[in-house]
Amino acid sequence: MALAVDDIVARCRDALTEHTPALAVRDVLDEFLADPKALEGAIGPVDAGGITTLYNGSDLTVLHVAWTPGMALNPHEHRMWAVIGMYGGQEDNTFYRRVPGGLEPSGGRELPAGDVLVLGDDVVHSVANSRREFAVALHVYGGDFFTVERSEWAFGTFEEGPRDFERTRRLFDEANARWRSQA
Ligand SMILES: [Fe+2]
Repeated sequence: MALAVDDIVARCRDALTEHTPALAVRDVLDEFLADPKALEGAIGPVDAGGITTLYNGSDLTVLHVAWTPGMALNPHEHRMWAVIGMYGGQEDNTFYRRVPGGLEPSGGRELPAGDVLVLGDDVVHSVANSRREFAVALHVYGGDFFTVERSEWAFGTFEEGPRDFERTRRLFDEANARWRSQA
């Protein structure tokens, strides 16, 4: 039987019962990434950047995220573990350390298709898609991604403010419009 979104969510839910859920989710995503065509079949084709919620509960959130070519999302934290499994394109991560008055860049990690990245709950990162194709991934979080209070920071000034999903939505809209006008 073809892979379905329900199967993906069920496997992630099962992983929550393991001793180290983030690492168990990493193993689950490793398995799914071995067959990107099956994932594509379950998720459907991507023709615009955006965030799609596959599951959202108090202990787990599973998202499908497609970063539009040329898009960059400003630094933010999650305050819960996160596991990102890329199955198309590439996501460029920059990590930051908190310093008085803001942030300081502290390394990075390019995440090509087939790679899985585990982030601890105190990580601050920004992400960018510098390629001319969508960067598509499953993002799994160990909590309720949408209601937990957390911060984001402006590029450049690194001024801290509350996580602003409206702003993220606008970033996607602008990036999608720019990408469509170039296509
Ligand atoms: Fe993130």
